Amino acid sequence: MGTTQRQRQPPPSGIDRPAAAERPQVRRVAFAYPADLDPRWHPRLPELAIAANAVSLLMPHAEPYVVRSVRAVLADLPGELADQAEAYARQEAQHHAQHHRFNALVRRRYPGLARVDGWMRRTFAWLARRRSNRFHLAFAAGFEAVAYAAARWVDGRVTDLFRGADPVPATLLLWHLGEEVEHKSVAHDVHRHLGGSRWGYAGGMLTAAVVLAWFSVLGTLVMLWRDRRIWSPLSHLRLCRWTFSFVFELLPTMAVSALRDHHPADFADPVWLTTWLRQYDPATGTMPEYSLSFLE
Ligand SMILES: [Fe+2]
Ligand SMILES: [Fe+2]
Repeated sequence: MGTTQRQRQPPPSGIDRPAAAERPQVRRVAFAYPADLDPRWHPRLPELAIAANAVSLLMPHAEPYVVRSVRAVLADLPGELADQAEAYARQEAQHHAQHHRFNALVRRRYPGLARVDGWMRRTFAWLARRRSNRFHLAFAAGFEAVAYAAARWVDGRVTDLFRGADPVPATLLLWHLGEEVEHKSVAHDVHRHLGGSRWGYAGGMLTAAVVLAWFSVLGTLVMLWRDRRIWSPLSHLRLCRWTFSFVFELLPTMAVSALRDHHPADFADPVWLTTWLRQYDPATGTMPEYSLSFLE
């Protein structure tokens, strides 16, 4: 359906914020992963590479699910929101395509991940088959709240986390997180516009957080085992420290998001990621490689 055919309707309560009207920019980025890219791409903090790889493994399952959920209702959305939703879906499609290629390198290094990958695929296939459209949209909206919390957590620690990392996977993750910030409102607005409730949103956040946490832990354990770090106290100490600090970012984000009249646009955009995203070059379809010198 073209934009001119859509009936413009007043937005439902809670989504008529100026920031929500900004349409996500679709950047066609293609990462050139070197053939010798080491899936343990962070010599200083190998556990960070492992945890990030586990999250990356989920993306080609979770993101197509939320994209299908939103695309399925495009015809039911008013003009500007439908355009935002389309741009959102195209951004997410770019994300999981780039993660898919990266994950192939990771799976080659860690063959045990094939089983976890199969469980992820079956889980999202089951959700798509067995749950309602309303659930899908609540999950998509909740998934975005979790992604926003992840972006904010990383934004405050970019230097600490990525110093010494291979810039290519670092750039993949930071580009992805920057765009998560950019489209933080869209799935929420779609969910609310189509009658989704605040309780549904809270349930979507909780479900998304549990699914993401469960599979991230499984993937991380497989890679720790393969790298013989499973009994390393230092590895567990680092992972526990990051987990706890992320939980302290995530839980307040979820609690505030669940408040009546809250809108994702009320959350400030993290400065580093937002500024860095502006370095995208549309002529070449590239992001500059992540470098510590940027914004330091
Ligand atoms: Fe994404
Ligand atoms: Fe997203």
